[in-house]
Amino acid sequence: MEKYRQFSELLLQSRHAIALTGAGISVESGIPDFRSKGGLWSRFDPREYAYIDSFRANPKKVWKMLMEMDVLLSGARPNGAHTALGELEKLGIIKMVVTQNIDSLHQRGGSVNVVEFHGHFRSLHCDNCFRIYARNAVSFEPIPPLCECGGLLRPDIVFFGEGIPPDAYARATEAAGRCDLMLVVGTSASVVPASQLPRIARRAGARVLEINPVESELSGMVTDIHIMESAGKALGHILNLVRLMRSHSSEEAY
Ligand code: APR
Repeated sequence: MEKYRQFSELLLQSRHAIALTGAGISVESGIPDFRSKGGLWSRFDPREYAYIDSFRANPKKVWKMLMEMDVLLSGARPNGAHTALGELEKLGIIKMVVTQNIDSLHQRGGSVNVVEFHGHFRSLHCDNCFRIYARNAVSFEPIPPLCECGGLLRPDIVFFGEGIPPDAYARATEAAGRCDLMLVVGTSASVVPASQLPRIARRAGARVLEINPVESELSGMVTDIHIMESAGKALGHILNLVRLMRSHSSEEAY
């Protein structure tokens, strides 16, 4: 309980708090993460499915995995962790969510200022002529879907071996250098450059608070306080405490 009080107080005292999220925040929405037991990379070898050169070498094979992911994503709904972050933004406490996830659940959970560091699945573009297609304007029979120019269509996600979208990279690194608190939720912090963001924040003097049932690569070195709990439960608790503390402080004001 003590850590929950500390998290809530630090969030209320912060001037510019932001959140960094990973696949763990969507596990309670039914989307497996990547590296936990039974995660996506235990079923699909990332070297064969997650690299841009693998996609270009075997587009049909990679699109089969992408379609499985797409079924999961389209059936998923935001969970309590997403909606709590949306509420904390409405309360003016969380100023931005930087997510490594491509599932659009933060926006559907009420967050407005969202930076999608690894892109999203709402649209696709042609690997040859770069023409953009809305997700629902593309037929996935047969796969791989092709552009009118004959080129391969691929989702607007970031494959390993590709750069982070420049605008997302600039906004996220600027926010990490400016924040005075970074709430890190549901990431193993094992993939660069996303995992550099908490280090940038800490070097700039920010507090780093972590929510993850297990240790991540930040624990013990970068993280100041770690709540080892699931995101939905922890963030639901923190939101309630923040609301309570805020109403008490406003009562004292009179
Ligand atoms: N609540 C909070 N954290 C959770 C939960 C939960 N309910 N369930 C799992 N986790 C934690 C796991 O303990 C793990 O540390 O979420 C973390 C997920 O780590 P990864 O599976 O490595 O996912 P992520 O950190 O987002 O991966 C980063 O790697 O493969 C690429 O592009 C992919 O964006 C992804 C990137």
